[in-house]
This record gives sequence, structure tokens and C-alpha cells, in this order.
Amino acid sequence: MKNIAVLDNSWGDCGKGRIAHEFSKNHKWVIRFNGSENCGHVIYRNNKKYVHHYLPSADYSIPEQKSFLGSGMVINPETLYLEIKKASEDFPNAPASMYIDTSAFVITQDHINFDKEKNKHIGSTGKGVGPAFTDKAARKGTRLYHLINDNAEIIKKLKDLGVNFVKFLELKEDFEKTSCVFEGAQSMLLDINMGPEYPYVTSCDTTVSAIYSCGFNTIKLDKVYGVMKPYFTKVGNGNLPTEIFGEEAEKLQKLGGEVGSTTGRTRRVGYLDLVAAKYGTIRGGINSLIVTKMDILNNYGKIKVCNSYGKDVFGPEDFIDAKPEYIEFEGWQDKNSIEAEKFCEYIEKYIGVPVEITSWGVNSEDLLWRK
Ligand code: IMP
Ligand code: MG
Repeated sequence: MKNIAVLDNSWGDCGKGRIAHEFSKNHKWVIRFNGSENCGHVIYRNNKKYVHHYLPSADYSIPEQKSFLGSGMVINPETLYLEIKKASEDFPNAPASMYIDTSAFVITQDHINFDKEKNKHIGSTGKGVGPAFTDKAARKGTRLYHLINDNAEIIKKLKDLGVNFVKFLELKEDFEKTSCVFEGAQSMLLDINMGPEYPYVTSCDTTVSAIYSCGFNTIKLDKVYGVMKPYFTKVGNGNLPTEIFGEEAEKLQKLGGEVGSTTGRTRRVGYLDLVAAKYGTIRGGINSLIVTKMDILNNYGKIKVCNSYGKDVFGPEDFIDAKPEYIEFEGWQDKNSIEAEKFCEYIEKYIGVPVEITSWGVNSEDLLWRK
């Protein structure tokens, strides 16, 4: 497949980065097109854990591999610099393989201060992302090219590391001729337009349309993957209809290592909510599913899944006062268990999109291709 997108159909933290990294090996470009450093994409390379906030989940051991930060992002050049500099210790070619669209908007210290003081009620990651998008929409923002024109010191530092600043049309032909993995940030249920729990959403478009709006209008996507887990998690505030509390929540948080990679907050956990996952899948433009962390539920016992709110869900307001109804599945022991297969069959039938891959660990060999 020439071009693919890797999105998340739920509340994030389902392993998009790891999946994008997996696909990156067969594609030239790994592209970020939305969000910012509020995301934390975790990848294991040679048994070492890496958390990326800006850095696309490319395979930097491949010399031809390139990464791109698109104009749909807002960027704090100072933290970007620190992240790339650190990454270059293990991957010396990471900075030079990175291309940044000069049209992306800048996150300033004022944005960070505002986010930390005024967006606590949302549970924002406090990285200044929302306020930077606010200024962009208010036509008060600063673009990277403004910093470049002002000969800003931080741009010089990034260039000295090897980072490339480009205008979109300088690369358009190369994107079209070669192959791209589009790595989404956040998730469908955090989307500013159709996320169910506004204002407990992020500040940008997280769906497939965000790829197009930052310039890739001539690119045909062969597949749009939606990554999900067999249970739900959420960081930040807002309703989580299938939320689990008490001992079971603690058990699941521990089993799944459910701690936010950006903020270090313990993630709230819930039963798999297929009503929400279906909504995210359809509205996000997702046409294939990947269920990660299946191994976390090995030997868990019976597994509850929400398959109804007792009402139709057509838009964000239908999530208000959701009253989840559940069915129960027999648990599974491992990836060969028939129960795991039945669980996936139910998901794909319910959502109407195939479950192509399941994941049973953090390494490449832990991926199971069902289709
Ligand atoms: P903000 O995007 O930092 O303003 O945060 C808004 C909401 O989105 C908060 O609930 C955050 O916890 C959540 N959020 C932002 N980025 C991510 C992500 O990458 N994964 C999961 N939740 C996120
Ligand atoms: Mg994350």
C-alpha cells in the first residue's frame, strides 16, 4: 500500500505510534499533520522505550526514511529542539531526515502559561496547544516563517542540528511519487468538531480530513487504520460512560501500564465502549481496525463490552446521559484462543469495519494479521 493513515477511534493512547513505526519500514515518509506535543507516542526499539511528542514514529535506522511535520500542527520550537537533540543521541540521522512546514504555527510561553492556568477544568496537557490554535484562528498567531524571517536563535539551533524547513510545494511531488504513513495525534473522540464531550476535547481536527487540510489534497489514501484497545482509557476530564472504579480499575491500570506518556497522570479506565468506538470509526473516516493490548486481558476472566446506550447515537449530544448496556464475553488465555477470535468477530460485525490486526505485545512479532 502506497499511502496509509494511522488514527485512533477512541480516546487516544491505543498505540498509534507503535503501529505507524511498524508501517514506516515500507514507506519513505512518516508524516505528522495535526496536534502537537500533547500526544505521547510510545515505541520500543531494541527493547528500549522511546516516547515521541513531535518526532514522527519513523524508523531512523533506515537512511532513506524521512519525516515531516505539517502545517496543521502547532510547534514549540524550544521543546522540539530538546526532543530532536535527545533523539539524535541514538539516531544521529533523525534531525537531517526531518522536514518542517514553515507554515506551522508557533507555541509561545504565553500559550503554555494560559493553558496551565485557564484550561485545568478540561484536563489539558498544559503544553500550550489549545491557546496556540486559538491565536491561529483569531489571526493573531505566529508562523514558523515569521521566526525564520526574524533570524530567531532557536531556528538557527534547529538548522545547525540538521533540521530542514520547507514550503509544502517544494515536497509535494516527492510525497506523490513515493509513499507516506500519516500518523495521527490524539483521537477521534477528542476531535474538536465531532468529539462527544465538548469542551473536554482537544483543539484541532483529529480525523482523516486533517491530512487533507494541511496540503495533501492530491494524495489517495489506500487505507485508514483506526487503532483501539479491548478496553477504554481516557486522560483528562469529561464523561467516560463505561468508566470502571475501585479495585477492578486499579487492576486494569496496573496490568495495562495505563499512565499518560505526556503528563504522567494515571489514565481513567473503562469497559470497551463499542457505541463510542463505532461513532469514532465512522466519523473519523476509518476503514480498517487494529486492536492493540489484547495480551493485557489474557486470563482476565469475563470481559464486559458496552453495545448500547439504550438510544440512537447520531451526534455528539447523544452521548449526554449515556446509559451503557453490556454484554459479556468469555475471556481468553492467549492469541490462539478461540474466545479472542470471537471477540474480534463481534467488534468488526458491530462496527462494520474489519479488524485486520491484533497486537499481543510491544514487538513486531507480537502483531497478528487476521486478514
Ligand atoms: P489538550 O489537547 O492538551 O488541550 O488537552 C485536551 C484533552 O485532550 C485533555 O483531556 C487531554 O488529556 C486530552 N489529550 C490531548 N492529547 C492527547 C493524546 O495524545 N492522547 C490522549 N489524550 C489526549
Ligand atoms: Mg499517547
